[in-house]
Amino acid sequence: MPRVLEPELMDDPEQALAYARANFEQGNKQFVQQFIDANADFQSGHILDLGCGPADIPIRLIRALPTCQVTAVDASEPMIRLATEAVNAAGLADKISLRCERFQTLLLDEPADATISNSLAHHIPNPLQFWYRIKQLTKPGGGVLVMDLLRPESPEAARAIVEQYASSESPILQRDFYNSLLAAFTEDEVAAHLAELNFSRLVIDVVDDRHWVVRGRV
Ligand SMILES: C[S@@+](CC[C@H](N)C(=O)[O-])C[C@H]1O[C@@H](n2cnc3c(N)ncnc32)[C@H](O)[C@@H]1O
Repeated sequence: MPRVLEPELMDDPEQALAYARANFEQGNKQFVQQFIDANADFQSGHILDLGCGPADIPIRLIRALPTCQVTAVDASEPMIRLATEAVNAAGLADKISLRCERFQTLLLDEPADATISNSLAHHIPNPLQFWYRIKQLTKPGGGVLVMDLLRPESPEAARAIVEQYASSESPILQRDFYNSLLAAFTEDEVAAHLAELNFSRLVIDVVDDRHWVVRGRV
């Protein structure tokens, strides 16, 4: 099945709220644990989160690694408003800096010590630009952890995944999940993007029936 693009930003307020209210606890906990496992010596430093959404991952990350700082970036204003509420409620405004910007034009004072991104890649029209920006925004040798959806074989397979994993979620979330599956990349496509940019120390793994993870160092 060919890739079907979906809108890049989640900037409809209802859509952002549906996403913020959905329960991603298990996946987000696992994502943070994967970062910790892959970066065992990483106790303090600056972590960049691209496409942070409502900031659940940055909050979990800082609770696990309290001497780190996170810059969390999302170009959707409604999403950044929800992220600001969540970060303030967690009392972590001094640890998590939220920026409402597109990662394509983001400028940092200096590259981050590590970069993470969960569920952003499928929103991006030009995946090479995404990987190129990760290279530019991360210090040489810095850790990278990127997770995203895996494109199924067919629209029917995508519907079955939505039914299996999101049947109790809101209609907006189910619609977005389906569209995101159609917009996602295959393992071979991601491997080709990494090869094109000479990322010899990043590897892709398909971790379950609907996700891939890229981890390693730039
Ligand atoms: C599916 S959400 C994932 C949120 C979060 N990472 C999580 O795992 O809960 C993807 C987010 O990426 C944001 N996004 C899409 N394109 C972007 C871009 N070019 N620059 C910054 N953020 C972007 C969307 O607005 C959306 O909030």
